[in-house]
Amino acid sequence: MKKVITYGTYDLLHYGHIKLLERAKALGDYLIVGVTADDFDRNRGKINVRQSLMERIEAVRRTGLADEIIVEEYEGQKIDDIKRYGIDIFTVGSDWVGKFDYLGEYCEVVYLDRTKGVSSTEIRSKENELKIGIIGESSIIAKFVRESEYVNGVKVVGICSEGKVVDEETGKKLALITNDYDLLLGAVDAMYVISHPSRHYADVKKALEHGKHVLCESPVSMSAAGTEELYALAKSKRLALVDGLKTAYSLAYARMILLAKGGVIGDIVSVDSVCTSLREVDYADAEALRRTWNSITSWGPTALLPVFQLLGTEYADFQIYSRVAETEGGFDEFSKVTFVYPSAVASIKVGIGVKSEGQLIISGTKGYIYVPAPWWKTDYFEVRYENQEHNRRYFYNLEGEGIRYEIVSFLRIIENKGFDPISKSVSEAISGVMEAYDAGRNLVLLQR
Ligand code: CTP
Repeated sequence: MKKVITYGTYDLLHYGHIKLLERAKALGDYLIVGVTADDFDRNRGKINVRQSLMERIEAVRRTGLADEIIVEEYEGQKIDDIKRYGIDIFTVGSDWVGKFDYLGEYCEVVYLDRTKGVSSTEIRSKENELKIGIIGESSIIAKFVRESEYVNGVKVVGICSEGKVVDEETGKKLALITNDYDLLLGAVDAMYVISHPSRHYADVKKALEHGKHVLCESPVSMSAAGTEELYALAKSKRLALVDGLKTAYSLAYARMILLAKGGVIGDIVSVDSVCTSLREVDYADAEALRRTWNSITSWGPTALLPVFQLLGTEYADFQIYSRVAETEGGFDEFSKVTFVYPSAVASIKVGIGVKSEGQLIISGTKGYIYVPAPWWKTDYFEVRYENQEHNRRYFYNLEGEGIRYEIVSFLRIIENKGFDPISKSVSEAISGVMEAYDAGRNLVLLQR
């Protein structure tokens, strides 16, 4: 019996896939189809496959062409499969010519002509493109626009901005600018809100009232009650409201949280995170200052994320220490916040006027997790123990600082196919800390 094997993602199964499977089957007597696992696809840069592994397997099964379906989960699996199943022929489409010649050592390799004019990528991008508008002034806007181009099915159609938005990498001014938010809302399906945090509440509310989904750069608003109200409004209108903290969408961060919660370091007793970036701030220019994010708003949400995700949001006490410039509105150059929980403690240090090592350390009763600087855009972390022989290192792919994964997640949440990695309660707790700072609650000012 001649055994044939072929691999693919088979997202939104199309005519090209069926033709390929028919010809693969005709090469022998028994056809094994390897369908790629979601993680495997993500790691090789295919980030917005629309269907889950189960749906894709089911679609292949329904063609009736596969005698056996397996899952491809890791690099190097093809050689293992060929040996394990006693494969005679390995085949894929001609888009892969040359790439699998190395398998010739184990079996015959056949490249079949790819069917012209059809691909999953093309179907994905034609399928109801989501039109996104952006409101704000940040330099992240240019990155977001660039990253959105890696995601099929979304398009940035306009930016509402008070100032000029310049792409720092290319030096070019961004197009599609308007200062009329209502006009922009009329032309989009969803908004990315990255205006000054003091305006988030109003900007998010307006978008939701116009029936638009919202991805809002964290904090979602400057008060816990405000954020709670916005989530309730989104829910009542069946719209997605997503906290835009890009770190939460990186695979390394998500895995690290799962491991920590799963007990690899025992009970978690302390979470300590630091995020700083020195920036030039002109304290004399009141107008520019009004648009600048201070330390607690620009870095606080990111630094707080692992604290609230690991220890929960029910802390017993907290204290904020800030070094504040003598300007209207109190602009903090640096803040440290400490939290006391019934059985743990936590601290964050954030600054745009003070520099430190941007690491994250999670201390436990059996060991600790160390995420090196800059931990918020990491692809790597370590789990360390007293006996160093047990230490383990973890590496993951991180493209585009997580922004493209954030956009993919937003799309999935809108389609009701994904879950939001940042819960409503974490989002509200983050807003609560911003609120305390603004109100001067539990705040100690450091002398300058
Ligand atoms: N294939 C084909 N003809 C097409 C599309 C795909 O013969 N028009 C083949 C591929 O060469 C591969 C298999 O079908 O052997 C599975 O391909 P997959 O990557 O899942 O499909 P694509 O449509 O190419 O997906 P994408 O656009 O995401 O790359």
